Order: sequence, then C-alpha cells, then structure tokens
Amino acid sequence: MAQSTPEEFVNQVRSSVDIVDVIGEYVQLKKRGRAYLGLCPFHSEKTPSFNVNAERQFFHCFGCNAGGDVFSFVMQMEQFTFPEALNKLADRVGLTPPVPISSEENKQHSAKATMYEACNFVARLYHYMLTSTPYGAEALRYLENRGITRKTIDEYQIGFAPDSWDFLKTQLAKRSFPQDLMVEAGLLSSNDRGKIFDKFRKRVIFPIYDSQGEVIGFGGRSIDGSDPKYLNSPETLLFNKSKTIFNLHRARPSIRKRNQAILFEGYADVIAAWQAGITNGIATLGTAFTEQQAQIIRRNTDQVILCYDGDAAGQEATSRAIEQLRKTGCTVRIAPLPQGTDPDDYIRQFGAEQFSQQVLLQAMPITSFQLKHLRSKIVIQDEADKAEYVKQALSFIVSLPNAIERDMYERQLAEEYGLSLEAVKLEAKKLFKQQKLSNQRDKDTTRRNNSINNGKSAVAKAPAHEMAERMLLYYIMRNPEIAWRVQQECNVDFQVDEHSALAAYLYAYYAEGRQPDPGAFIHYVEDEKCKQLASGLAMMQCKEDVSDKEIEDFIKQVNNYPIRAELIALRDEQKQLNLQATGSEDEERRKQLVIEAALIGMKIAQLENALKDG
Ligand code: CTP
Ligand code: MN
Repeated sequence: MAQSTPEEFVNQVRSSVDIVDVIGEYVQLKKRGRAYLGLCPFHSEKTPSFNVNAERQFFHCFGCNAGGDVFSFVMQMEQFTFPEALNKLADRVGLTPPVPISSEENKQHSAKATMYEACNFVARLYHYMLTSTPYGAEALRYLENRGITRKTIDEYQIGFAPDSWDFLKTQLAKRSFPQDLMVEAGLLSSNDRGKIFDKFRKRVIFPIYDSQGEVIGFGGRSIDGSDPKYLNSPETLLFNKSKTIFNLHRARPSIRKRNQAILFEGYADVIAAWQAGITNGIATLGTAFTEQQAQIIRRNTDQVILCYDGDAAGQEATSRAIEQLRKTGCTVRIAPLPQGTDPDDYIRQFGAEQFSQQVLLQAMPITSFQLKHLRSKIVIQDEADKAEYVKQALSFIVSLPNAIERDMYERQLAEEYGLSLEAVKLEAKKLFKQQKLSNQRDKDTTRRNNSINNGKSAVAKAPAHEMAERMLLYYIMRNPEIAWRVQQECNVDFQVDEHSALAAYLYAYYAEGRQPDPGAFIHYVEDEKCKQLASGLAMMQCKEDVSDKEIEDFIKQVNNYPIRAELIALRDEQKQLNLQATGSEDEERRKQLVIEAALIGMKIAQLENALKDG
C-alpha cells in the first residue's frame, strides 16, 4: 500500500467515519428534517439544541455554541489532543497511521495509550486465570454458587486475581509495561517504603469499561469474607468514577430501544439482572450518584427506574439519585424491594419472572415513594402525630406541579386517615398560599442579586455592525464571488476579532482553489474558536438569493462602523462641553467652551455627510 502523507491520512479518516455514528454513541440523536437533534453533551439542558449535520459532517449547539467536525467532537468530549482523536477515530475504522504520530506534546497521549493497553491486557489475563487455570478453581466455584453462568463470565470478562503479591507485577514487566505507569493506572500499588506489589489479590475481578467499551478500571470482590468486600481501582488518568457508569456500553442499545434505564446499586445486581434477560441495567461504582452521571443517562433516555436496596442506606441513596435525575429532566420511578434484600438476592430467590412482575412493573412514581419515605420516618401514636404527618405530606403534595396529581394524592390522604376531603383541600390551600409567599420572597432576592451581578443584560442583541459582519461571513462561506467583493470593497477589518480571523480563513480557503462547501470549510479551519463560529454560521438559515444591494448594505455597515463610533464619541464630547459651558461662571472660559463645541459640531456634520455619501 502506498504511504500516504499525514494530511491525506487525516482526510482518509474523516471520510471513513460518520459523525452521526460517533456522536450517537454519546448522545441519543433524533432525525429532524435534514439534521439530527439531541441533548448537548457540553452543557446541561432539557430541550435539545445540539445539531449534527450528516451531509456536511459537523455539529453545532445553539445553546452553548460548541461546534466543529468529528475530530473537534472527540477532542472536546474526551479531552483529547488532535493526534489522540485522530488515532481513536482511525482505530475505529481500522486505518493505521502512515507514520507513528508522536511528538513532545504527546507524552501524555502515550501514557494514556499504554494504560489502555495494560488494562485491556490485564482484563484478559485475569479472565484467563479464572477460566483456564487451576488458580481460578475456588473463584469459579464462588461464582457458580452465586448463580453466575459461564456465558456471563465470558460476556463480562469476569476474572480472578491470584493470591500473590507479584503475579501481575511479573507479567506486566515481562511485557515491558513501565512499572511506575502501572502504579498510576491502579494495577499495582506501592507502600511507603517504595515497595511495589499487585493491587488485587485473591479477588474476583469485574472489569469496568468506559462508554466506548474500553477497560479503564477494575472492581475486585473478595471471595473469603475478607475486607474490604469490594476493592476498586483508584481514580486514574483513564478512570473517573463520577463520570463512569457501570455496564453503560453494553446496556446502551437496550436503554435507547426501550427508552428506559434501570439504575442499580451494585455490579452484582446489574449482572444478575442481565442474566435474567434485563439488559438495560446500569450502576454507579461504589460512589454516590453524581450530576454528571445523571446527565449521561439523560442523553440516552428520559425514563429511569431506581432499583436500590430496600434498606435505609438504599433509601437515602434513592432520594439523592432522584434529586440528581430530576434536575436533568428525567422521569423517575422507584421499584419496591422488600427490606433487607437486594435485586441480586431477589432474582436468585424468586427468579426473573417474578422480579419483572413484582419489582420492576410495580415501580411507583416519586411522589408515592416520597410519601412512603416520609411516612416511615414519623411514628404515629396519637392524633397530634397524625395531624403532623398529614400537614407534612400535604405541604409536599401542594408543591407538585401537576393539578391532577395533587388532587389524587389529596384524596388518597383523606381516605387513608379518615378525613373529609373538604378539610384536606382547605388545609392544602392554606399551605399553598404560604409556600407561594415564601417562594415569591426568594425570587425577589435572587432577581435583585442577579441584576447586581450582571448589570449588562446577557440577552442584549448583537449590535448592527456585528450582525452585518456575520451575515457577510454567512454569504462568503457559500459564495466565492461575494468573498472577492467583500475583500475589495471592505476598507476596514471586521470589528470582532473572531470574525476577522474567520474571514481570513475563508479568503485563504478560496485562494487555494477550493469550492464553497460549509462542511468542508469547517474541517479546513484549524482554530477551535473559529471552527465553532463557522459551525454556528453554517447552521444559520438565511435566504439563499441575497441581492447585490443587500451585500452592499452589509459592507456599508462594516465600512461605516469606525465613523459611527467616532460620531458617538464626538456627540458625547460636544454634549459635555455644552454642559460645562452652561454651568460656567467665568465668561471667558464659557466662550472658549462654546467655540470648542462648535468646532466639534462642524466635524460631526462632516462625518454625517460622509455617511450619507458612502
Ligand atoms: N462497594 C464498594 N466497596 C465496598 C462495598 C460496596 O465499592 N466495600 C460498592 C460496589 O460497587 C458494590 C456496591 O457498592 O457493587 C453495592 O454494595 P453492596 O450492596 O454492599 O454489594 P452487593 O452489590 O450486594 O455485592 P455482593 O452481592 O457481592 O455482596
Ligand atoms: Mn448483593
């Protein structure tokens, strides 16, 4: 095969990957007309403003202005450098770089690449130890006792770390993985005397994959009751627990297809459910559920069933997850588990069918769960306790946004506690008024604070000359004739630096003999800020048949801007002088000020004429 140049290689990769596929692995995209629409992964939003253009292979978010081509996406999403993004995408389509891409700035890249390689190797090695050597016998029996099948062991690449201080250390050294890097990757540990040894010993190993299906860490379960029960990889360059979700890459197709995710507390629960045919289960990694995790889920579905343990800790964790998920706009339901069991126990005891029927299908809306939770915290012994509970429950019910729901729960409450519906409604009304008042007060304070913080409103529309610059860029991007014209007729630079830079890119682009093509142009632009601007402009929908006169007017706006700016300054100066003159006691001084103001007036008239002629 002929060696291609790096540039050819980049183009080859670009034309082989499809941006919709790549982005689709992070964001659920829905086709809308010619574009694909989804929730932006770069800022938090509830209604989609993130657009992917399949035809031209770029993306743009109208909410936060992120934008660019497939390389920019991977760079921004994974915090990769360009070569890293290139490698990853090349890998995806099975292309090999012509020359190894390595430079000073890629030291970190090679560290990361080595860590990925090592994690992948270690997962396979531990799996082999479990399934194909005598060392794994005890662990295999343990898994068998837990009802985990051989098929699942293979699917999840479950493994076993032998009971040794230097088994992995030796294996890694044999393959020349740098030892300090392996410590950094969390595969080996070091003590305070600098001794290095295997992190996982005598543990069943669950590899943890990132959303792309690469192994980035491990969870190790002890098999002989020794503590801790679970030992997990530490945070590393690859493994960020608050952004990782266990089983996401396997569950994603099913989550999207059913438009529902089931969130469990533990690895064991996810795996037991998977084995029972429930393939949309995911879990956190022994850490509290984070907002980032909620956002990742929301990008794939807006329906989540929480299936946490039935104990107090599980209920608290449930409350926290509800809060995070609701913030992102997910509808959450809670699956009821009998106290003291977890999903894995339940499935083993009662089977998959009953788990689906009695647990998942019984999932209740948040409100019912929260009322139940509230109820479980108050011990009702007399009428006073009862009144207190009813009051707390009601103040919760009146805060619900849906009137039908409010009515339903009020009726339930009345019935359950033998109260008249009128009394309950009356009390609800009172509480509602109280809440509204205190909300109003909060709102007033925040509004005041806001107006202090940002005196200038952020929604102010761009000034006319900036709009004109943007319109010109829009049309230049689509028509080289207009580019020539603007180049000749604009006698000042664009006022906004980024506009000016983008114009320079456009002139250079056409000067190299390229055809107008917003998609190709976005790829051509190197600077990320300019790329974003270009993708924003490419997404704009303006009428195609712009007249010469309209272009002329935009050009005038640009050319006249310095004059207009000067006029504003002069008028201001004139006003100041006149004010000083009227206020002056000193006759001589007053005359002088009036003359100065008149001189400025002449200059103003001149400039105004220039504007009229120009
Ligand atoms: N966990 C952890 N460290 C521990 C205990 C638990 O990281 N010492 C995390 C693990 O991610 C585990 C999850 O918390 O999957 C749930 O813990 P727990 O309910 O105690 O474990 P189970 O899932 O029931 O695990 P098993 O059935 O193996 O006992
Ligand atoms: Mn369990």
